[in-house]
Amino acid sequence: MQLFLDSADMSEIKRADDWGVIDGITTNPSLAAEQDRPFDKLVAEICDLVEGPVSAEVVATEYDQIMQEARQLDDISEHIVVKVPLIKQGLKAVDELSDEGIETNVTLNFQANQGLLAMKAGATYLSPFIGRLDDRGQQGLQLVEQLTQIKHNYGFETDILAASIRHPDHVLQCSLIGADVATLPFEVLESLYDHPLTDSGLAGFLEDWEESGLEI
Ligand code: E4P
Repeated sequence: MQLFLDSADMSEIKRADDWGVIDGITTNPSLAAEQDRPFDKLVAEICDLVEGPVSAEVVATEYDQIMQEARQLDDISEHIVVKVPLIKQGLKAVDELSDEGIETNVTLNFQANQGLLAMKAGATYLSPFIGRLDDRGQQGLQLVEQLTQIKHNYGFETDILAASIRHPDHVLQCSLIGADVATLPFEVLESLYDHPLTDSGLAGFLEDWEESGLEI
C-alpha cells in the first residue's frame, strides 16, 4: 500500500519527505486555505520537493469551469493529480480528463455506488472518506472493502485511496483490505513509527553497549 501525506503544510511535507516513507501528497481546499500564500505557488513548491503524485483540488462545480481549473492545475507540474468532487459535473469532467491523459482523484466519496460511477468515468484515484463516515456512526472501512471488491470484480484500474484517516488502526485495516493508497495526516504518519517496547529496547541495548566498552 502506498502512503501519501494529507497536508498542505510545507514544514510537515519536508519532514515526512525526509523520512523517505511517503509516495505522494494530497491537499484539499481547507488545508490549502490554512496556508497564507498563493495556491499555485504552494502547489508548485510541493511538486518540486516531492517525487510522487500531488493532488490539487478544483473549486468549480460546473463542467466548463472544472475543465478550465483542471487544465490550469495540470500545467503547474507533471506531478499534479487533479482532484475533482464526486458530483455529476465533476465525473463528466473526469471522463474527459481521463481521455486527455490528465490524472484525477475523485474526492468526497461516501457510498459504493458513487465510487462505481467514478471508476466508470476513469478516475485515476478514488478517495473514500473513512473518518467522516465513522464520525456519523457509519463504517468507513466497510466502504473501502466494498470499493476494493467492485474494483476487482470488474478490473477497474482506479486506485482506491483511503482518505480521512484518523488513527493508526485505520491504516492497518486499509492495508489488510488491500487499499492501493492511504493518505495520512502528519500526526498519524508519525505515530506509525511508535511502540514503547522499541524505545525501551533501544535504551537497554545502548546502555549495555556503553557499559561493555565495545566499539564498532
Ligand atoms: C483527502 O484527500 C482529504 O484531504 C482528507 O483526507 C480529508 O480528511 P478529513 O476528514 O480529516 O478532513
